[in-house]
Amino acid sequence: MKLTADEQAMLDGKEGPAVQKAMELLVKYGEALGAERLVDTNNVCDANVYSPTPGLPPFDGHDHIFSQMSLDSDEILEIPKVKAFSCQLIGRMDSRHWRLQGIDQTTHDLILESESYNAAHGIQLMNTCTPYQIGNVPVKGEHCAWMESSAVVYINSVLGARSNVEGRESTAAAMLTGKIPYWGYHLESERRGTHYVTIEVPVESFMDWGLLGYFVGQAVGDKVPVIDNVKNSPNLSKLKHFGAAASTSGGVEMYHIPGVTAEARTVEEAFSGNKIYEKFRFGPEERRKVYEDLNRTGRDTNVDLVMLGCPHSSIQQIWEICNLLDGKKVHSNTQLWIFTPHPIRELADRIGYTKILEDAGAVLMSDTCPAIGRFLPKGTKVIATDSAKQVHYLPAIMHVQGWFGSTQDCISAAITGRWKGELQ
Ligand code: F3S
Repeated sequence: MKLTADEQAMLDGKEGPAVQKAMELLVKYGEALGAERLVDTNNVCDANVYSPTPGLPPFDGHDHIFSQMSLDSDEILEIPKVKAFSCQLIGRMDSRHWRLQGIDQTTHDLILESESYNAAHGIQLMNTCTPYQIGNVPVKGEHCAWMESSAVVYINSVLGARSNVEGRESTAAAMLTGKIPYWGYHLESERRGTHYVTIEVPVESFMDWGLLGYFVGQAVGDKVPVIDNVKNSPNLSKLKHFGAAASTSGGVEMYHIPGVTAEARTVEEAFSGNKIYEKFRFGPEERRKVYEDLNRTGRDTNVDLVMLGCPHSSIQQIWEICNLLDGKKVHSNTQLWIFTPHPIRELADRIGYTKILEDAGAVLMSDTCPAIGRFLPKGTKVIATDSAKQVHYLPAIMHVQGWFGSTQDCISAAITGRWKGELQ
């Protein structure tokens, strides 16, 4: 791989051993990928907060944790402040409701200590899977190094920024060096459409966009779909749901909806001369099949937990949930947990939505989610959610049954304690 003078200097250790180790990692990573060079990045999102996990060895301080877990170094390196603008993604603990999650005081204190270490190194504690909802909104063409598949597919497709789905080590190295291998979705040529999907059924609601996303991921895997025949322009929440679903059932990191997403006004522009490898249609039959697939683990209609906010809810979604609750109370056998970034929770506090939710018996949570934090209310056997991603993961990793439906179906389940969702 060709290195610039500043990259070579870092590799030679001119900026200290931690930066040298980071550059070694990037060079190895880039060479394994066949990248010819690195590219400058000043926008990194990574999950670097430590929380004690069974099986991990004891660590001798946070430099040791960073060295070993983020830079793959056996040596304890002195970690300098980050060079690139860097943000912490979603973590394991809600700063407000950690006791409800079942987190003990020692673990809580260690996580806060790790957060303070990160903050002292210049990492922004955004603690969400949707940094683009709370101020980190990369612009078209901006080279980023982000983890979190739902966020990467959003910034690539909707905003036209450029990132691959990175890992903990590559983002840690990018934070310290301001560099990332120039390959994959950083390249113009990799961003063109490869597969064509035409919609033959109305796709309007939040649920519809999740169904379509899950279908698209199943159909194209990790390729670049072009979605045609979209009649109703989706908003942020719907695109957030669509991308998360497509990156969950497949590995979609980039898509085009001509006239809606950043890089294509027409289908032709989306493919930009690329061959169309395969064509798919999304009609009533495909829609029903995806719905049934997402509900494959649901059997018992008594619902223990309704989970909303995957990816983290926008303020618009919280407003909609408050309206749907309409003064009603959550059933005594059911919990309603809603997840949002912490600055949006603060906004909800100020507007009065947090109080509306709490008066109904719901909890507005931040900084984490059940899939990342691996927590559910004690004794939970059945969950319901309006998120295709969450219903894909929770039954698999937490061994619960899962129902998927509209936000209305979920609120109705929270109020009655029973799942009655149906495909309309
Ligand atoms: Fe975010 Fe957790 Fe869903 S990380 S996308 S709320 S699985």
